[in-house]
Amino acid sequence: AFDHNKVTVVYVLGGPGAGKGTQCTKLSEDFDFCHLSAGDLLRAEQNRDGSQYGELIRTCIREGSIVPKEVTSKLLENAMAAEIQSRSGHRWPDGQGRFLIDGFPRKMDQALLFDEVVCPASLVIHFTTTEDVMLERLLERGKTSGREDDNIDSIRKRFRTYYEQTMPVIEHYSSLGKLEEIDSSKSIDTVYQETSVIIRKLLS
Ligand code: AP5
Repeated sequence: AFDHNKVTVVYVLGGPGAGKGTQCTKLSEDFDFCHLSAGDLLRAEQNRDGSQYGELIRTCIREGSIVPKEVTSKLLENAMAAEIQSRSGHRWPDGQGRFLIDGFPRKMDQALLFDEVVCPASLVIHFTTTEDVMLERLLERGKTSGREDDNIDSIRKRFRTYYEQTMPVIEHYSSLGKLEEIDSSKSIDTVYQETSVIIRKLLS
């Protein structure tokens, strides 16, 4: 577990293709956050030699379903610990850290586990846009991404998972007063400007 007085966690949520990764990459550079993408950590674990979860993760990603909470939560916790250790004393003061966690928590059980056992989130950013916009972006990205889930069947399943499992998480943080919503159908720069205002407020 991390001391939430020293470690700042911001969850970044949104449907598939809403622009989470794009925005987190830019924000992490400008505000000295570490960007951790749950999807990227899972893909790395899937490809790691000797991983006991490789097949399970591959199947979940192809089916657009949610990898069990213990796997994702542990990968994130380990990545956070490694980052705090490597940045401590130069980029971040000792023991402190700032994380943008993208694509997590996607389901209520993950949210409850992580907030209670690892570190509670200070803020949750939700990128909203229409299904048509997300679909178009993902099909375009799929031409070059090489991602096994950027195909129409997997995309439809990912949408369903988002509506059924992730929307309750978003409602949960809204009821806690931690949610900020941003319309991510606008241009990348506009979405970035609007998100920066929220991050600046959090850090002030
Ligand atoms: P993950 O990798 O997280 O995929 P996702 O949530 O479906 O999101 P994407 O990465 O596809 O999209 P994004 O919102 O980051 O958009 P991007 O910035 O790339 O998860 C994959 C799978 O892993 C899940 O289905 C699940 O199986 C598993 N998984 C992940 N997290 C898990 C968890 N917590 N627990 C259990 N299982 C988990 O943008 C998309 C495209 O649009 C890009 O080409 C970009 O250039 C473009 N674009 C972005 N913004 C704009 C804009 N404003 N205008 C125009 N184009 C834009």
